[in-house]
Amino acid sequence: MTALPVILDCDPGIDDAVSLLVALASPEKFNILGITTVAGNVDLDTCTRNACQVRELAGRMDVPVYAGCPRPMVIEPVFADHIHGDSGLGRAQLPEPSHMTEDQHAVDFIIETLLAADDNSITLVPTGPLTNIAVAITRSPEILPKIKQLIIMGGARSEGGNITPSAEFNIAADPHAAHVVYRCGRPILAMGLDATMQFRASPARMDVLRGIDSETGRAVMAMLEHVNDVYVDFYGEEGAAIHDPCTIGYLLAPELFTTRPCAIAVEMSSPLTLGHTAVNLRVPDPDTSIEWVTQTDASALFDLIVERLKRL
Ligand code: RIB
Ligand code: CA
Repeated sequence: MTALPVILDCDPGIDDAVSLLVALASPEKFNILGITTVAGNVDLDTCTRNACQVRELAGRMDVPVYAGCPRPMVIEPVFADHIHGDSGLGRAQLPEPSHMTEDQHAVDFIIETLLAADDNSITLVPTGPLTNIAVAITRSPEILPKIKQLIIMGGARSEGGNITPSAEFNIAADPHAAHVVYRCGRPILAMGLDATMQFRASPARMDVLRGIDSETGRAVMAMLEHVNDVYVDFYGEEGAAIHDPCTIGYLLAPELFTTRPCAIAVEMSSPLTLGHTAVNLRVPDPDTSIEWVTQTDASALFDLIVERLKRL
C-alpha cells in the first residue's frame, strides 16, 4: 500500500509535538511532503524552532519544514503559552536544530505542492489555527480539487470550549480562517474537543510512557509532565487532554473513532463567543462534507501511539 501524501500544519505546542513524532515514526503510512508552521500556541518563530527540533529528534531530516503565517487573518493574536510554557514544549530540553526551515513560505509551499498534485490526492492535517490553509485557499482556490481530505483538530460541540467557555483554541485563535476552511467544500474530518478530551495523559498512561527508554520517550515525558501540572493548577484535574495526536491516530486507525455528518458555523463577531463552533448534527450542510468525531477509543489509541513512539 503506498504511503499517504500529507502536509502537517501545526503550532508546536506539546500535543502538536507528540502528533508530529507519531507521524514521523510512520513512514510506511505517511509520505510527509512537508511540515508547515503557524502562529498559535506560541509565536511563529518558537513554533517553527520547535517543529525543527521535533523533526530532528525523530531522525527525519528528510522532511522539510516551512514557516507560515505569523498572525491571524483579522483578529489580534492570542497564544496558549499558559498551557504549553514559554518554550512551547513544556519542560523538554531539545538540542538546537542543526537545520532550520526551507526559504519558501508555508503558504507558497502548500499552493505549489497542491497545484502539482493529482486531484483528490493530498491530505492536509492542520492542528493549529487554520490561517495557512485559509490563506492558501483564498489565494489559489484552484488547489481545492487536489485536497483529498482535511483532518482538522479544532472546534467543540458538547465540550463547550477551552480558551473561553464557548470556543476551542485553534478556532478562536483565527475564527475567520476557520470559517473559510470549514466552508471550502472538501471532505473534512472534524476532530474537536468532544473527541480529544476523551484522550487523557492519565497517571497510568504516564507510567507506560515513562518506560520508553529513549530520547523521544524522555522528551515526551518532559512535555506531558508540564501540561499535566498545568491541568491540575488550571482545571483541578489529573491527566491533560492530548488533542493533536488524535488526528494522526485517525489516519492510522479510523476504526477507533465514531463520526456523524454535520454542518459547522463559526462565530466571527461576538466578543463573548468569538470562535464558537455551532456544530449541527441534525441538519448537515449540503454544500460541505464534514464528519464530526463523537467518540474516541482512547485506550486503543494510546496503545497505537506508544507503539509508534517506541520506534524512534
Ligand atoms: O484546543 C487544543 C488545540 O489548541 C491543540 O491543537 C493545541 O495544540 C492548541 O493548538
Ligand atoms: Ca496544536
